[in-house]
Amino acid sequence: MALRSPNLNVMIRAAREASIKLKRDYGEVDQLQVSKKGPADYVTAADIRTEKILRGELTKARPDYGFLMEEAGIVEGTDPDRRWIIDPIDGTTNFVHGIAHFAMSIALQEHGRITAGIVFNPISEELFCAELGQGAYLNDRRIRVSSRGAMDNAVFATGIPFLGRGSEGDHQTFLKEMGAVMAVSSGIRRFGSAALDLAFVAAGRYDGFWETGLQPWDIAAGVILVREAGGLVTDIQGRDLRLEAGSILTANRNLHQPLGQTLRQARK
Ligand code: IPD
Repeated sequence: MALRSPNLNVMIRAAREASIKLKRDYGEVDQLQVSKKGPADYVTAADIRTEKILRGELTKARPDYGFLMEEAGIVEGTDPDRRWIIDPIDGTTNFVHGIAHFAMSIALQEHGRITAGIVFNPISEELFCAELGQGAYLNDRRIRVSSRGAMDNAVFATGIPFLGRGSEGDHQTFLKEMGAVMAVSSGIRRFGSAALDLAFVAAGRYDGFWETGLQPWDIAAGVILVREAGGLVTDIQGRDLRLEAGSILTANRNLHQPLGQTLRQARK
């Protein structure tokens, strides 16, 4: 990456520091499958531990900034205009099952706008990062969204609602959406981490992604990755994205409209 801002360097350093313990935790998760308590408590502990390390490192470097975190919630900073949005492990179900597809997600929000984001998979060591106006990068290599223009060549990612979750409508709505997209595309993937789904769209691996029922920390960093990689991001209705609303539709510029139309048509 040509020039990293001091804030981006702070984010990357924090993620690398937290990854040391997180990798160790992941290495042990397999043995917990057989323990009495099962892995769920252990993962919650790993989530909390990772978030604490990230928070500690970020606070050391920027003591005034606030936080919005998956585990600890909102922590106001003395600077009312800047906060970190953190998901310590996005893809927790994968983590529990020993599937090495999960990531830390850290975004910087300034005056209400996301200005920097990183998504880091500590196992594959893929580090995706972006800053406003500076492009998106994967391990120092510039990335761009795909240029595919036809739905029938495109691969899309999504998240399948589980345990009754999904803010817009019910599971039936999602099944209709899947049915419509699978009929006109090359395929649908569900890998289990919205942060990595967005990073993969930014890298041109997926041509688009949609999901509802997400939390701001799942997508804050990924959104700037996709935008800086040249992609479009809205909610499923095609309106401006609101992080709190949890509905997201993203794709390259050719496919954002047809994917959105397919989804909206399916919902009728
Ligand atoms: C989850 C992942 C998953 C998505 C879920 C999220 P978490 O985040 O992003 O892909 O489908 O809706 O809750 O819980 O692992 O941080």
